[in-house]
Amino acid sequence: MAASGSAVGLGNIWGFPTNAASNGGAAFLFTYLVMAFALAYPALMAELIIGRHAKANSIKALQSISRGPRTRVLAVFVGSLGILTVSFILSFYAIVSGWMMAYFLDPLARLAGMTEAAGWLTADSELRNGIFVVLFMALTIHIIRAGVKNGIERWASRLMPMLILILLLLIVYVLTLPGAMDGLRAYLVPDFSQVANPRLLVDAMGQAFFSLSLGVGTMLIYGSYISKGENLPVTGSLVALLDIGIAVIAGMLILPAMYVALAGGVQIFNPDGSLVAGPALIVSVLPEMFSAMGAVGVFVSLAFFLLMTIASLTSSISMLEVPVAFAAEYRNMRRGRAALLIGAVVTLVSLVIVLNFDPLFDLVVNYATEVSQPLLGFFFCIFVAWIWRRDAVLREIVQGSPEAESGMFWKVWPVYVKFVCPAAILLVYLG
Ligand code: PFF
Repeated sequence: MAASGSAVGLGNIWGFPTNAASNGGAAFLFTYLVMAFALAYPALMAELIIGRHAKANSIKALQSISRGPRTRVLAVFVGSLGILTVSFILSFYAIVSGWMMAYFLDPLARLAGMTEAAGWLTADSELRNGIFVVLFMALTIHIIRAGVKNGIERWASRLMPMLILILLLLIVYVLTLPGAMDGLRAYLVPDFSQVANPRLLVDAMGQAFFSLSLGVGTMLIYGSYISKGENLPVTGSLVALLDIGIAVIAGMLILPAMYVALAGGVQIFNPDGSLVAGPALIVSVLPEMFSAMGAVGVFVSLAFFLLMTIASLTSSISMLEVPVAFAAEYRNMRRGRAALLIGAVVTLVSLVIVLNFDPLFDLVVNYATEVSQPLLGFFFCIFVAWIWRRDAVLREIVQGSPEAESGMFWKVWPVYVKFVCPAAILLVYLG
């Protein structure tokens, strides 16, 4: 549940549908499914297996499967780059999550008759963004300080079922509204002329890696908390299936909602004819739709932004866990202290981005998710398939799934992570 909570986040409910909207609907969906099952799932397994084997933070874990001084240096490089990357991801994620919290409070303020406060909550300002970054990070730090069982696992298993329920209720409701079916069509009828577009491949791969929280050590750390009795290939498939499933289902909410907004007179196309994506979609198109719904819109909006806030929180805790686990294990820092200290540094970085939004936001997002994450995914495959000894990998996998040695997984996966994944990542990366 915790690993699914990490995977399911803004990337699924926002990133995936908007990427699909701007990349030919189902053509993107199709490419994404291929990328997610063929590249991201094997990479996810690589991280979970290394993590459970080493039972340690990412740097130590990669070192423990290294052979010789050169690979140990590479381990330190990959582990550190992961910790740095995940901290930067958290710094921009917290900004967007802060918007979600502000938009969640907006209908409450309106219900309480505080129209001025509601206006402030939904108007883009540095002050609002700064305050909500701090609030969101405080929540994240609070959960991480409570530890793995009482913090991460407890909250993930409370919040995830709630998230799925809200998502399904919202879909059922939105699909009954006028215009929704046009949205569904735009989402599910493919424009195949787009499939060969290299931009679409890069976007789909970046999206798949981001969505499964890969490369940065999150899944490795969560893997290190999985008991030896657990069946890893099954756990990994469940996490991947839930993550991919929720992204696909979220598309059935967001795209129909956009066309409902269109039917209600809201502009959903950019001047060049493409669908509005990115921040404008969530913070302008959808709220306009909610307000066009009248009284019921207040509750729908409340549910939607609660969904977004929950999804963000179960992901942000998994991000903060990576540097905290490192500091706690490696530097012997107390967990609570590490969470507070590292959380404060990340909050500061977020505030710097808030104050320099235009030059910094896209830069950090692109660098972390499109450059760093796939590169790290590449190295994880190299570690598990080229550096770690094959018999040791198998020994780890059969713990908890003794049948794995003769099963499909062990026949296909090693070849996959050895050749297909690194080659495909490089190809898409350099292409
Ligand atoms: N998987 C999360 C999402 O889809 O929103 C984002 C994420 C979480 C990325 C954790 C990286 C990470 F380490």
